[in-house]
Amino acid sequence: MKKKWWKESVVYQIYPRSFKDSNNDGIGDINGINEKLEYLKELGVDVLWISPIYDSPCDDNGYDISDYRAILKAFGTMEDFDSMLKRAHRLGMKVMMDLVVNHTSDEHNWFIESRKSKDNPYRDYYIWKTSKQGGEPNNWGASFGGSAWEYDEKTDMYYLHLFSKKQPDLNWENQKVRDEVFDMMDWWCQKGIDGFRMDVISMISKDQSFPDGKLNGGLYGNGSPYYMNGPRVHEYLQEMNQRVLSKYDLVTVGEAAGVTIEEAKKYANEDGTELNMVFQFEHVSIGDGKLGKWTTKKFDLQELKKVMTKWQIELSGKAWNSLYLCNHDQPRSVSRFGDDRAEYREVSAKMLATCIHMMQGTPYIYQGEELGMTNAYFDKIEDYKDIETLNIFEELTSAGLISEVEMMKCIQARGRDNARTPMQWDDSENAGFSTIKPWIGVNKNYTTINAAEQMRREDSVFHYYQKLIQLRKEYAIIPNGTYCLIEESHPQIFSYTREYQNRKLLVLLNFTDKDSQITIPEEFRNKYVICLISNYKEQSISKDILLRPYEAMVLYI
Ligand code: GLC
Ligand code: CA
Repeated sequence: MKKKWWKESVVYQIYPRSFKDSNNDGIGDINGINEKLEYLKELGVDVLWISPIYDSPCDDNGYDISDYRAILKAFGTMEDFDSMLKRAHRLGMKVMMDLVVNHTSDEHNWFIESRKSKDNPYRDYYIWKTSKQGGEPNNWGASFGGSAWEYDEKTDMYYLHLFSKKQPDLNWENQKVRDEVFDMMDWWCQKGIDGFRMDVISMISKDQSFPDGKLNGGLYGNGSPYYMNGPRVHEYLQEMNQRVLSKYDLVTVGEAAGVTIEEAKKYANEDGTELNMVFQFEHVSIGDGKLGKWTTKKFDLQELKKVMTKWQIELSGKAWNSLYLCNHDQPRSVSRFGDDRAEYREVSAKMLATCIHMMQGTPYIYQGEELGMTNAYFDKIEDYKDIETLNIFEELTSAGLISEVEMMKCIQARGRDNARTPMQWDDSENAGFSTIKPWIGVNKNYTTINAAEQMRREDSVFHYYQKLIQLRKEYAIIPNGTYCLIEESHPQIFSYTREYQNRKLLVLLNFTDKDSQITIPEEFRNKYVICLISNYKEQSISKDILLRPYEAMVLYI
C-alpha cells in the first residue's frame, strides 16, 4: 500500500451555517470558523472539510450554487476566507472544499442563460428534454420529492433536477461544462486549498436513453440505476484527475450513494487515477424500508458488522476507505447507533468513536460528534428547516403512504436537521453559538452537553476523541494494519483485530446496555498486553472479559 498523508489524517466536517456566528445575525459564518480554529487544533484534527460557502439562494443550504467563485454574503467575504485559510495552514491544518458540480442553482448565470432559448450558447450546459405523451420525459422522482423534471414554459421543454427544482443537473456530456468545472477547480487550487469533497459525484453521468425506472410501489420511478455510477462517470473523473487533481497534492473524497465495492475500487484505486476515497452508504442505510430512510426501525448489529467488515476487507490494498457515522445529512451518530439516554450517552458515544477510529481508512468527525451531541427531536414540523424533510413530509402524508404522527417519528429518527442544530459551545443562551435566536432551534440539552464543560473535564467525550486521534498518529498499526472480524456472531459485541508488522490490536465493543461476555484470543492473555484506550476507568483483562454497558477497549501486543 502506498503511503500518503491523507491516509494518516483525521478529517473534521464543518457545517458553517451552524458552527459559530461571529457577527450575531443568527447564522454561522467564516469568521466564526476562524475564531474556533484553536479549538480544532486542540482536538487534533488534520483536515477541515467545509460544507459549501459559495454564493447561493440557499434552497438547499448552499448545495445549490449560483457562483462558484464568490462567497455567500451571510458567510462573509473572500478576504475572510483567505485569512481563515491562511490561519488554518499556520496552525498546521488543511482545508477541503465542498465541490457541488452535479448541479448548480437555477440562479446560476449558466442556467439563467440556458433557459432563455433553445439556441442559447448555454442551452446544452443542462439536460433539456421534450414531453413524452403529454407528460414528463420519464418517470424519475427527485430526491427531495416530486418529479425529477420541471416544465419550463419559455421553450416548452423540461429540465432534469435530481434534487430540488432549484438545482438543475449539469450536462457532463458537454465538454464545455467539464472545461468550466475543471477551470473553476484549478482556480481554487491556485488559492491554496488542499482538497475536495465531491457532492453526489457518482451521479454526474446519466444513461443517455433516459429510460423509465421501476415503480416499487412509490409515486415515481427509481431512476438511480440510470444515473448512479453511470456509464461515463469513471471517464469523467479520470479526465478531472489528469486536468486538475494530479497537478496538486490534494485529498479527495467522492460522495457516492449507491456505490458497490467493485465501483469503489475504481473510484478510489491505489494508482490514484480518480479519487482518494469515497463515502459509501451501506452502513447508514441499514434498516431502510419501503419508504427508504423514513423509518423508525433500529439498525441490526449483525448487519453493521457484516457491512463494515466487507468494506474493510475488500478494499484493503486496493482502494482506501472513508470512515464515518455522521454528517450533515445523517442523524446524530449517538442517537442512531448508540444510546442517547443520559446515563449511556457519553459511554456509547465513546464506544462508537472507538469502533470507527480503530479501523483502516480516514476517519471523519462531524461537528459536535466529538461532544456526543444528540438528535434534535423537534416535535413540530414547523421547527424543521430542511427542504428534504419538509417536501417529503408533505408528499408522503398527503399521498396517504404514512400518517403524520408516524412520519414525525421517522423525521425525529432520521431527518437531516437533527445534525444541523447549532454547535453547543457553552451553557450561555443559544449555546454560545450566537447572541440572538439562531436560524434553527438550539438543542435543549446544551446546558449539559457543550464544549466548554467537556474541555474542563478530563473524562469527556472531547478528550476521548483527542486521545483516539493521537493514537492514530503514534501507532502505525491503526492506519495500516489488516482487519479481521472475530467472534462473528456474538449477539452484543463487535470485536475485531488489526495486524501490522508483528504487532496486533484487539478492539472490543459492547453495543448494548447489558453486561456481555467475550472470550478473547489466546495471544492477548499475557502480561505484555497494553490497554491503549477504554471508556471505563478500570479494566480487568482475563481470558473471559466481561464488558459493561457500551464498554469499549483496545488491547495491543
Ligand atoms: C449531497 C449533500 C446534501 C445535498 C445533496 C444535493 O447529498 O450532502 O446535503 O442536499 O447532495 O446537493
Ligand atoms: Ca453570522
